[in-house]
Parts: sequence; structure tokens; C-alpha cells
Amino acid sequence: MIILGIETSCDETSIAILEAKKEKAYFFIKPIASVVSSQIKIHAPYGGVVPMLASREHTKNLPLVFRKVVQDSFDVKKIKQKIDLIAVTSGPGLMPALLTGVNFAKTLAWSWRKPIIGVNHLEGHLLSVFLPEKNKISLLPFQELQKIFPAIALIVSGGHTQLIYVKNIGHYQIIGETLDDAAGECFDKGARILGLGYPGGPAIAKEAEKYRIQNTEYRIQKLPRPMIDSKNYDFSFSGLKTALLYAWQKTNKKERKRLMSQFAFELEESITDVLVHKTLQAANDFKVKSIILGGGVTANQKLRLKMQETIAQQKNPFNFYFPLLQYTTDNAMMICLEAFFNISNKKLNYKNLNWEKINADANWRL
Ligand code: KG4
Ligand code: ZN
Repeated sequence: MIILGIETSCDETSIAILEAKKEKAYFFIKPIASVVSSQIKIHAPYGGVVPMLASREHTKNLPLVFRKVVQDSFDVKKIKQKIDLIAVTSGPGLMPALLTGVNFAKTLAWSWRKPIIGVNHLEGHLLSVFLPEKNKISLLPFQELQKIFPAIALIVSGGHTQLIYVKNIGHYQIIGETLDDAAGECFDKGARILGLGYPGGPAIAKEAEKYRIQNTEYRIQKLPRPMIDSKNYDFSFSGLKTALLYAWQKTNKKERKRLMSQFAFELEESITDVLVHKTLQAANDFKVKSIILGGGVTANQKLRLKMQETIAQQKNPFNFYFPLLQYTTDNAMMICLEAFFNISNKKLNYKNLNWEKINADANWRL
């Protein structure tokens, strides 16, 4: 089947087309076209996403992104006939942003007389590990799934930080989450304190790398690793941001240029230490086979490396899966794939799915 997916939950306007089918012994997965239009420049002056600005930009961008994805795939004369299903992110996310994508998708479904399904953004991040590059085919054997699951998934983005016990695709239990700021939010707010750009994750990572290369004397105090020893799987990052702020305020302004990369390094170390420690704790306690990463923060190379090294030190190392870089941050391809798995797992007769039943749900929990 061929699925057209739409994603507008935060600050990326994205539309993608995916071909996916269930064969006798495997899933066939082939990304056909994908366009992601980022609003980074619009939100950068505010140091975070402004919901009404995001909504305005999505409304402007959706027709342009749609035209581009059509041009990149089957062309305008054939597109309607080719698409079997429309998938859209229904939640969680920013309500004004979600509504733009949901309404665009519903209008398209009505005018094309196509079935439509609303899917969960976080499940999309979790499943993005199964996506190959554009125009490449991935054949995922059913047997392979038995080697992967059960798994612990760490979903870390600008809005969420969750540890999820994944019994199988479609069967999830949230076992821990952040009690306040998300890990990505901590990167973003930390970068703002240090006067680095937005989004903060890549800016902090770049600055931290400068310290690693220069390897100058380490002169700053260590930041806390919040909740690293707590017995549960929850996180808390707002205190870390405050600790960074106070430590930064104590520095001599003249020295800040020199200390900046040390602070960025220490923030990245602190966030990644906590994420890795808690994920391994959950993976060991739940005796899973694999660890899966998903979400914007998993673009972070230090996080991937630290997770890989820590897994390798375990008595029984876990399988380790993380998405291709292009699928770590928000994209509609993961939304297409999730729709496909939803339908093939539940053996849904998707042809009956009607646009009138689709609604945005900003707080949708897995
Ligand atoms: O998943 P995503 O694109 O959007 C949400 O659903 O929130 O994640 C965006 C978040 C931002 O907070 C951004 O700073 C963070 O992902 N991020 C990173 C990196 N690239 C993006 N964080 C750390 N290191 C990175 N390289
Ligand atoms: Zn996301």
C-alpha cells in the first residue's frame, strides 16, 4: 500500500510518501518522497517554539510542502490514484500546530475520497528505527521482530522524555518520564543561558566538541545528574537548567568566552549520563532484548556513543537500535510507517476509516 503522511505537531511542516506491505515472511518498507520544512529561523529569536507562530507557518507551508512532495513522487496527474491511505499526526503536540495538519489531511481525505488514520507522534519516533533511506528498500523479517522485542525505548525530544516498555510493535507501557522539563528542552534552555543559538541541542553539541578537541584544563564545577540514583525510571531536568544558570552567573564575564565550551560539555555530559543510566537500569530490570532510541535528542552523537559503550559493558549486551539521522527529528515518514504497522497489526479494514472521526488530541498518551 502507498501511504501519504502529514506531520505538524511542533515546528516542522512535513509530508512524506511511503510504500509498505506485508509479504509472507517480512515487511517491505520503501520511503518514496519526503519534504521537511523547518521553522527554526522563525522561533530562534524566542529560544523556543511559539505555538501560534508555528500554526501560522504550518498554514502557509502545507500547500507548498504538499506540491513539492507530489512533484518528487508520482506527479500531480497520478497522485490521487496512487495513494491508498492518508496518515496524520493527531497528537501529542501543540494544539494550534496539530490542528493545521489534521485539517489539511481531513480536507484531502474528503476531496480524494480516501481513508485516513490519525496516529501518535511518539509512537512514530519509536518506529523510526525501521526506516531506510529514501528509495532504498528494507525487508524486515517477522523473525527479526522476535529478536528485537521486548525492548526498552527511550524517546527524547523537545517536548517529551519517556522510557517505554515495548512488548511488541503496538504494545506499549510508559514506565518513566520527566516530571518537569524534557531533555531537549534542557538542551534548548541551556543553550539560551549560554547565549548559543536555537535549537539548543546541536548548538550545545557543537560547543562541547570544541572542548573535547582543545582539551584545555577543566575549570568549572560539575553539574548535578538529577535523579540518577532514584529507584524509579522518571527524570527531572529543570533543576539542572537552574544549576547551570547559577554556575554561569558566577563566572567572570571576561572569562565566559573561554569557559563556554566547558559548560556546554558539562551540560551534555550530565544529560547523557542520566539518560543512559536510567535506560540501562530499565533494560536490566525488565530483562529486555533491545534498547531503542527515538526523537530529536537521539541525533546527539555523545548520547549514541555513551549508550553503545555502556551496553557493551553489560554481562548480556542488548541489541541497540537508533534511527538514521534524518529520521531523528520530526518527519512525516515515521507517521506513514506507524500508520502501516497500526493497520497490519490490528488487521484493520482501513478502507472504512473516515475523515469525520479524526481529531487532534494535544495530550494523547501512548
Ligand atoms: O523530536 P523533535 O524534532 O521535536 C519534538 O517532537 O520536540 O526534537 C527536537 C529537540 C530539540 O529540543 C533539539 O534541541 C533536540 O531535539 N536536538 C538535539 C540534537 N538535535 C536536535 N539535542 C541534542 N543533540 C542534538 N544533536
Ligand atoms: Zn518529535
